[in-house]
Amino acid sequence: MAYDMRDDLEDIYFTEQQLADKVAELGARITEDYRDKNPLIVSVLKGSYVFMADLTRAIDAPCNVDFMVVSSYGVGTKTSGEVQIIKDISQPIDGRDLLIVEDILDSGVTLHYLMQVLKARGANSIRLCTLLSKPARRKVEVKVDYLGFEIPDAFVVGYGLDYAERYRNLPYIGILKPSVYGGA
Ligand code: IMP
Ligand code: MG
Repeated sequence: MAYDMRDDLEDIYFTEQQLADKVAELGARITEDYRDKNPLIVSVLKGSYVFMADLTRAIDAPCNVDFMVVSSYGVGTKTSGEVQIIKDISQPIDGRDLLIVEDILDSGVTLHYLMQVLKARGANSIRLCTLLSKPARRKVEVKVDYLGFEIPDAFVVGYGLDYAERYRNLPYIGILKPSVYGGA
């Protein structure tokens, strides 16, 4: 039998329909809040690429889009430590209203750092939209303005989220079987 990615999943956590409903709800709120602001919507790659594509199409107001790539901090790096910007926003953000789009807020270290860097560049406002949040894992506090779902401390994949660079193209979000991690 051919390999099927779905066999690696223990369970589906959020279906395509649940995700679509949530994206529509967030898009409507963002449309209201940013109607006359022409926001710059910034996706933090790679995990947020699917969410970004769906969310921006659910926003019924003028906006610009851009993308950043930041390195994940390595094991043993201090939690307050530097996060490296691998690819930066390709336009000035001075005076702009920024909306940062993330896939999942975990420790918060990456986002905390990123928000500080962008604030220092003179943006008029910066808000954060994250599809998922794991509050139990937080190491630094990060204010979330638009939240999709809170989830417990489980490792999820799909809808842009990966494990070892796989499963990003699953159209829903699932939990991996422990055996995929080399566990039980
Ligand atoms: P942090 O908030 O700085 O710890 O970084 C969060 C990043 O860790 C996310 O952008 C994801 O790339 C990754 N991550 C955290 N939890 C998960 C998960 O459950 N599945 C897939 N990626 C995750
Ligand atoms: Mg990410």
